[in-house]
Amino acid sequence: MQHNFLSTQLLSREELLGILSKAECYRKGYEQITQPIFAANLFFEPSTRTKMSFIVAQRKLGIEVLDFHTDQASVQKGESLYDTVKTMEAIGADLVVIRHQDDNWYEALLPYVSIPVINAGAGKGEHPTQSMLDLLTIYQEFSSFQNVNVVIAGDIKHSRVARSNMYALDKLGANVYLCAAPGLEDESLGFKHVSIDEAVEIADALMMLRIQHERHINNFQSTNSYLEDYGLTKEREQRMKDHAIIMHPAPVNRGVEIDGDLVECGRSRIFKQMENGVYVRMAIMANLLKQRGMLHETFTTKRQAITS
Ligand code: CP
Repeated sequence: MQHNFLSTQLLSREELLGILSKAECYRKGYEQITQPIFAANLFFEPSTRTKMSFIVAQRKLGIEVLDFHTDQASVQKGESLYDTVKTMEAIGADLVVIRHQDDNWYEALLPYVSIPVINAGAGKGEHPTQSMLDLLTIYQEFSSFQNVNVVIAGDIKHSRVARSNMYALDKLGANVYLCAAPGLEDESLGFKHVSIDEAVEIADALMMLRIQHERHINNFQSTNSYLEDYGLTKEREQRMKDHAIIMHPAPVNRGVEIDGDLVECGRSRIFKQMENGVYVRMAIMANLLKQRGMLHETFTTKRQAITS
């Protein structure tokens, strides 16, 4: 069992599946813990879904939330990430949730922090809690990962969501394909790249990604034709398999990587993904707190094992 939650690469197949199984228990019913527990959410980059769903998950678990806003915090006076986290630890936070623009921000931090650290997004590195909610959404659809064709399409080069998902999906037996416009690919990742027209034909789950302009060194211009050339148009959606689903971690740029009308179409699971985010984050935090003897769980339904 990991002391932190930092990367799907560091998780075994059993650990990935155990979180999904527990998330399903939380979705179906649970009892709140009573011991006071404090969590600090340190978001150094903007977030709507991840931050809000961590807060909902924390409140559902009965955890007190120490909210934090960079524009009102002492980072404005030059305080480092390290000193901010040590401060949270000193004042009694029992776990910290961190989003930061550096790809590997946690590496310098971990040797000196004794409370659990959860990666809520690390630059172009990983976004493992997003991956867990994506995995749960795929599992709910197909009841397996074996030989499910998952195409991750968009700004692969700069996407932490793509990285966390490809590591986890590959481990669970899914067939992972990548799809990107010229300049946004990453051949070093070792997965096959396909065109968007091939993607819509082969995908069981088609995961669209937005262009991460904020992480580009060379200014990639998404022209008016980006949707037509590389995105999911209504015409392409018509060519998807009957059972295939559309996913997107959001925020969505409607009309850029995906036609705006497809965001809420019948095969879209985009809002389901967000809903699942609460349950996987509950499961992840519960696992970390349980290891420290701070959490005693009672579920209202029998836990069902999820297998890949
Ligand atoms: N998917 C995701 O991480 O969304 P936010 O940036 O809004 O948290």
